[in-house]
Amino acid sequence: MLKKGLMLLSGLCSLVLTSCAGAQHNISEYILEMGYKEDMRILQITDTHLGDKDDLEKHFKFMDITIKESNPDLIVVTGDLFTFASRTTAKRFFKFLDSYGVKWTVTYGNHDEQCYFSVDWMTGLLNNYGSNCIFKDIQDDDVQGNANFAINLKKDGKVFEQLIVMDSNRYYYGDYFGYDCFKQNQIDWYSNLVDYTKEQNGGVTVPSLLFYHIPLPEINDAYDKAKAGENGAHFVYEGQKNEKACPPDYDFHFFDKIVEKGSTTGMYFGHDHVNDFIANYKGIDFAYGIKATDRIYYKEDMMGGRTIVLKNDHSVSYENHYHTYEEVK
Ligand SMILES: [Fe+2]
Repeated sequence: MLKKGLMLLSGLCSLVLTSCAGAQHNISEYILEMGYKEDMRILQITDTHLGDKDDLEKHFKFMDITIKESNPDLIVVTGDLFTFASRTTAKRFFKFLDSYGVKWTVTYGNHDEQCYFSVDWMTGLLNNYGSNCIFKDIQDDDVQGNANFAINLKKDGKVFEQLIVMDSNRYYYGDYFGYDCFKQNQIDWYSNLVDYTKEQNGGVTVPSLLFYHIPLPEINDAYDKAKAGENGAHFVYEGQKNEKACPPDYDFHFFDKIVEKGSTTGMYFGHDHVNDFIANYKGIDFAYGIKATDRIYYKEDMMGGRTIVLKNDHSVSYENHYHTYEEVK
C-alpha cells in the first residue's frame, strides 16, 4: 500500500518535474554581458553545501583564502550551494560572495532543493540581487531548470567569448530514482543560443565555456579514453579520481549536440566531491571542480577551487587552489 502510494507520488512528481508548459522567450532575453579582460580569471568553486547548522564564518574564512589567492574577475559556483539551509543562510552566503567587489554567478545542484526554501525563491532573489551578482533565469519559460542563461564577454564591442550557465536539474522520479539530466528543451535552447550568437557575430561561431553541476554521461568515456590515450583524448590535469563518476542514467545526448555545434571548448561541473581531474575528449575539456568546503563528504587534500584563465587566443589554462581547514584554525 505504502509502496503503491509512493509510486503514485513519484509518478506525479515526475509529471510535474518533466512538464514544461511555460512561455517561449526570445533567446536574446537570456543573455547578459560583462567586459572581457586580458587573461581573464574565472574562479570556479563548487559543492559548498552550506546549511543552518554550519559555522558559516569558518567556511567563509576558508573560502576567503581561495578567493584571495585566485584574485578573480568572476566567481562561478557550480551547484550544491546549500543543504538544509534557510533563507537567512542563503542570504549570508550571497552577501559573502558579493563582498569582494567582483562579479559572481551560480548554477544549482541536485541538493539545492533540500532546503527550507524553494529553488524558485532563490532564483527570484538572484534575479533581482543587483550589485555584483550576474544571474538571470526566466521563470515562466519553456526551458527546464532554474538557471539557464549566458554571459557574453565583450571586447571591442564584439562578443569575445560566451559563458553558458545551465541547470543540470535535480532528481529523476520516473521508472527509477536517480539524478536528473538536461532535458530536450534545454538542448534546443543551447543550440538556439549558439546559432543566435554566431549570427550576431557575422556568421562566425563564438567560442564558449559551459558551467553546470552534474557531469554528462560521457564523463566515463572521457576518463577511460584519456587514461588509455585513445582517440586523441588526454588529461589536461590528471588530478585524482576517488569515486565512480555519477552522471544521470539517462539523457538526451546533449554532448553530441555540443560537439556538433562546435562552440564549447570546456565544461565545468562538480557533483562528485572527490574527483578533480580534467580530461580532454573530442576536443572539449571535461573538468571537475575542486570542492570549496568540507561539508557532506570530502578529501582533506582536495578542497579549495580552480581558476580558469581565459586568454586572448581563447585558450585556457588552469590554476588549482588546494587548502586545508588547518589554515583557518
Ligand atoms: Fe555535492
